Amino acid sequence: MAKLNQVKQRIEKLRAEINHHNYRYYVLDSPEISDAEYDELMRELQKLEEEHPRFLTPDSPTQRVGAAPVEAFGVVEHPQPLLSLGNAFSQEELAAWYKRTSKPIAGEKFDFTCEHKIDGLAVALTYVDGRFTTGATRGDGLRGEDITQNLRTIRSIPLSVPRDAPARFEVRGEVFLPKAGFEKLNRERAEEGLPLFANPRNAAAGSVRQLDPRITAKRPLDIYIYMLGYAEGKATPPTHWETMEYLKSLGFKINPNNELLASIDRVEKFYHTWVERRESLPYEADGIVVKVNQLDLQERLGSIGHEPRWAIAYKFPAIQGTTRLIDIGISVGRTGTLNPYAILEPVSVGGVTIKQAALHNEDDIRRKDIRIGDTVVVQRAGEVIPQVVGPVVSKRSGREKVFKMPKRCPVCGAEAIKPEGEAMSRCTNAACPAQVQERLEHFVSRVGMDIRGIGESQSAMLLREGLVKNAADLYDLKDKREQLVNLERMAEKSVSNILNAIENSKRRPLSRVIFALGILHIGEEMAEILASHFGSMNRLANASREKLLSIPTVGPKIADSIVAFFRQEENQKIIQRLKDAGVKLEEKKAKPEELPLAGLEFVITGRLEASSRQEAEAKIKGLGGTTKDNVTRKTTYLVVGADPGGTKLSHAQELGIKQIKEEKLRRLLERKA
Ligand code: IVH
Repeated sequence: MAKLNQVKQRIEKLRAEINHHNYRYYVLDSPEISDAEYDELMRELQKLEEEHPRFLTPDSPTQRVGAAPVEAFGVVEHPQPLLSLGNAFSQEELAAWYKRTSKPIAGEKFDFTCEHKIDGLAVALTYVDGRFTTGATRGDGLRGEDITQNLRTIRSIPLSVPRDAPARFEVRGEVFLPKAGFEKLNRERAEEGLPLFANPRNAAAGSVRQLDPRITAKRPLDIYIYMLGYAEGKATPPTHWETMEYLKSLGFKINPNNELLASIDRVEKFYHTWVERRESLPYEADGIVVKVNQLDLQERLGSIGHEPRWAIAYKFPAIQGTTRLIDIGISVGRTGTLNPYAILEPVSVGGVTIKQAALHNEDDIRRKDIRIGDTVVVQRAGEVIPQVVGPVVSKRSGREKVFKMPKRCPVCGAEAIKPEGEAMSRCTNAACPAQVQERLEHFVSRVGMDIRGIGESQSAMLLREGLVKNAADLYDLKDKREQLVNLERMAEKSVSNILNAIENSKRRPLSRVIFALGILHIGEEMAEILASHFGSMNRLANASREKLLSIPTVGPKIADSIVAFFRQEENQKIIQRLKDAGVKLEEKKAKPEELPLAGLEFVITGRLEASSRQEAEAKIKGLGGTTKDNVTRKTTYLVVGADPGGTKLSHAQELGIKQIKEEKLRRLLERKA
């Protein structure tokens, strides 16, 4: 019995720890431990729960991987209806809303909160006695679908909240897929020949409304909470802003871009700032939401139909346009894929001229029935590459032409084939100049070996001049300094930079090298899995198909691709040469005490310019340093940012602690990284 009690205690301790680290990672973006350490905790918990199923509870962090599929979603009645929002499309319309709103509450003092209107899916999350019990879609506002199991997989949704939270309450928020996750998902779907999601909103909705929560669990969904629905058993703050602060203290993720603003002019400014900067946001926003901050005034204002009078969505200008599809071009990818793209009559969309847009694959073109000569709708949905949404069928003249994938590679003329079950046609010639160049570009790219100074044009030039034929040749360039300096638009300085960057790339982690090799179907994530599983390039290269298949996330397609890659003599030679050049092909896990900032303690005061304090702290910790909130005798450095308030600075002076500026911290982090 005593033994069982110990197990239970250990399980509870592990859960608390994992929840804490989830919160640091997914809500604060500021992890305290490495992924490996986190995995270790998770494994221990999983093992204990497997051995002692009686202790398994639905709010255990292990349950985030996704429960078994369901036939259909249950129905949830919303105790308080979920409202929608009226829209304003111009300054005049916002002013009119302001007038309408201030009239009934004339004489009252009030301010506004402004938030981004994220384009995702509205959800209501109910907590009872500290536990997340029900998650529902908006539905028709009165009844939604029960998607609790799917929402559990979203790491930024707390499964439990502190004891002093209200006994029963509901928060509402927007579940969304960040732009990067959306692009990645669509890239994968294009490769697999699955229909693409038109925008992050559809992708988020499609992911959340999966009958199989295990699929939801694989999508990088996130959430921002934007409202407290109701709370019982405890008084909550009198304003929206303070309520958000309160919810933050309970562990909910609140958008850090929210602002409390004193006047409608400030609201207008907030809007314009984000019209300019919306593209830089990691998520898709289609406007801002303006809310009267005082909750008693919200109540007095009430709503008309579905729309509250105390809030409005002030929409960003559309970033869609129509133009003519002049032709469909083909570019050749690094694995030989023939990628169709739209050649457009130039059109200005949201202030940017678009001449080309992505078309993904032949099936997608056919599914959308896009024909050459069509008038098409194009959109910039935050992605770098604009998309063709679809044709305007009513504008057809009858002379439009249906697109056919060429049977030969447009670059080298070799035969192009479309393997059974795949979505993309491929050029069959591995020596195709387009493939060779794409492979080189991939190798040096930021996500690959990160060799700065060699981009698209430099890669092309190096190949054209015969200075390199493949990635391994890069490491011989140091003996060809003369020839490099003589190249067009190259000078001593840029050559030195490039050679330095090549030298530095030798120390990239194994996962990056594996990814940089450009093995078919091996993305960044898979490269990491392979690196941590095998620990060396050699072991990976010699792994049998069976051995590869024994890794849970590796399927036959990936295993075959890896085996085929390492079987090719050409690839074996490249890897041998990388090794001879001194590229690190082994993963030696650094012991904590060997990390570059080990033993150094940092305290930060004031505002940092280059990154948030959280980011800086995460980097320091990643390099083995520690961070503290207060200066003590043990502090190594006080990092002094802009406008330092508080007593940290004077304290550091008293104790004679060394002070450094942000710039110095940055160099410290870069040099050691
Ligand atoms: S407040 C009564 N705040 O927009 C207020 N909504 O048309 C109701 N949305 O379905 C919502 N970001 O999903 C609010 N910061 C935000 C929002 C937001 C996105 C969505 C929400 C709702 C729709 C309203």
